[in-house]
Amino acid sequence: MATLISPGTPIGLFDSGLGGLTVLRELTRAFPRRDFVYLGDTARTPYGSKGAATIVRYARECARFLQTYEIGALVVACNTASSVALAGLQAEFPGLVIGTIEPAVEEALRTTRSGVIAVIGTEGTIASGEYERQIRLRAPEAEIISQSCPLFVPLVEHGHLAGEIVEKVVAHYLRPLDFSRIDTLILGCTHYPLLMEAIRAEVGPAVHLVDSARPIAASLRPALADGEAGPGGSRRFFVTDAVSRFNHLARLFLEGEAVTAVQVEDLGDQR
Ligand code: DGL
Repeated sequence: MATLISPGTPIGLFDSGLGGLTVLRELTRAFPRRDFVYLGDTARTPYGSKGAATIVRYARECARFLQTYEIGALVVACNTASSVALAGLQAEFPGLVIGTIEPAVEEALRTTRSGVIAVIGTEGTIASGEYERQIRLRAPEAEIISQSCPLFVPLVEHGHLAGEIVEKVVAHYLRPLDFSRIDTLILGCTHYPLLMEAIRAEVGPAVHLVDSARPIAASLRPALADGEAGPGGSRRFFVTDAVSRFNHLARLFLEGEAVTAVQVEDLGDQR
């Protein structure tokens, strides 16, 4: 049985920037009385084009920062960090540490009929081979097609979520894949659900799109079973670069609620 996290104990999440807000949005819908602390490492985004050792270091610094808020669970709301740093974070931090990959893989395997699954993600996530490994562990016979989409994150971070440029970039990465055979597409980056409309238009209505946010909420549920009782419901936001763009875009993503992030000067100091 999962250890229950008391209602007053916040849940921490981090991402390289705005992408993890797609996870936060789902968690606040699922657990409206919970307190959340979100860290966007906007000074160092994107993570996806960096090497594994760098991402591991960034992820540990983000986790240590969130630990100072006495969080009861850590959600690594970033696939790039989950793919190379999750095991280390689970060993280092007390309490529940959840990444994006296993919840997404389990949903993909529940829904695929053809057994042909595509995964899109950052260069770091795809190069790690972690999605492939996790799928193969559970379904050795699955056919997996992996594609990195390095221009997706910069588009989102600059607020380009729809329109001609987005459609062209989405087509550039996804058109070469054969969606007459692929029935399930894992959005293996938490930024990608923000491009959902263009991705859906490109792949057509029959392909099941897997966004890790909902399965992450489901895997947290046993630990938060008593969460609805608390007063809670607060969200605190921290970023490592200037706040203005984050505040503006975060407000759009979080259905109009005003977001006032605080800039953290140096994550390297959190020890
Ligand atoms: N949103 C992140 C992910 O899920 C990070 C993207 C990036 O910074 O490149 O991989």
